Amino acid sequence: MAAATATARPAVVRDTGAVLAAMTSGLDTTVPNMARVYNYWLGGKDHFPADRAEADLLLGIYPPLRDLVRENRAFVTRAVAWAARQGISQFLDLGAGLPTSPAVHQAARAVLPATRVAYVDTDPVVLAHARALLATGDGVTAVAADLRDPATVLANKELRAVIDPAQPAGVILGAVLHFLDAGTARTVASGYARLIAPDSYLIISVARNDDEMLGKRLAQQYTAATWHNHPAEVIESFFDGLELAGPGVTEAQTWQPWLTEPRLCRRDGHVLAGVARVVAPDHAARTGMTGA
Ligand SMILES: C[S@@+](CC[C@H](N)C(=O)[O-])C[C@H]1O[C@@H](n2cnc3c(N)ncnc32)[C@H](O)[C@@H]1O
Repeated sequence: MAAATATARPAVVRDTGAVLAAMTSGLDTTVPNMARVYNYWLGGKDHFPADRAEADLLLGIYPPLRDLVRENRAFVTRAVAWAARQGISQFLDLGAGLPTSPAVHQAARAVLPATRVAYVDTDPVVLAHARALLATGDGVTAVAADLRDPATVLANKELRAVIDPAQPAGVILGAVLHFLDAGTARTVASGYARLIAPDSYLIISVARNDDEMLGKRLAQQYTAATWHNHPAEVIESFFDGLELAGPGVTEAQTWQPWLTEPRLCRRDGHVLAGVARVVAPDHAARTGMTGA
């Protein structure tokens, strides 16, 4: 969404200190913050008047927004549980946001109790909450890193204490790729797919609005970050070279692994979501999949 803080603009920065300074409005509670606005829509408690004012303004423009974020969260939980049932016992939650219930490790551990999770974010407030509330036991960590740099994220020492990228993992990019331009978002998704073990799963959700004028208005009024109203075919391209599970790229609310066709809701706003398996390179070459 339009220009809030020039700070939330994408550009891969390798110095984590600079990333933190550049990517977040930090502890300034007078400026709307991406994680806190989202937390307010979800019905959480971690927000300030500036966050609520922005969230309410956007709800006034498009009331279904609150449903969309809740549907997104339910999708992430459902997809994580399904991936755990496929045997995935380690997850990276990239752009994790403020803690919600169930958290990713809770959803996964309901299926595989020994599941390990790394929560990754650039926002110091998110990280403080994650360290206090989530990373309290073995196998769960909260890591300060910029999701736009997959190689650096996967090499992070704290992350490597719980995640082994040589083993299949669940890589979650929930409601974050719309904060990147299409090219960067594609490079980020394909970067994780290339660097993570075959048989890993990418879990991706992206918000979009079919009414371009309305999308533009929402983007202009959202000052916590830059929101890109990616066309559906661009969102589908984030899964290029991967093997989509179930219905493919579909409405988050309707994603179920046993469905075979996408199902969209009758409204302008969507969270388009999918889960896809990382295919081993030799298999991809044999089947003509291009990969990234
Ligand atoms: C809308 S919340 C999404 C929360 C969660 N993924 C979900 O689907 O419910 C976006 C989160 O991404 C984080 N974020 C944004 N850009 C990021 C980046 N480049 N690297 C890491 N985290 C980022 C924000 O700080 C925020 O906490």
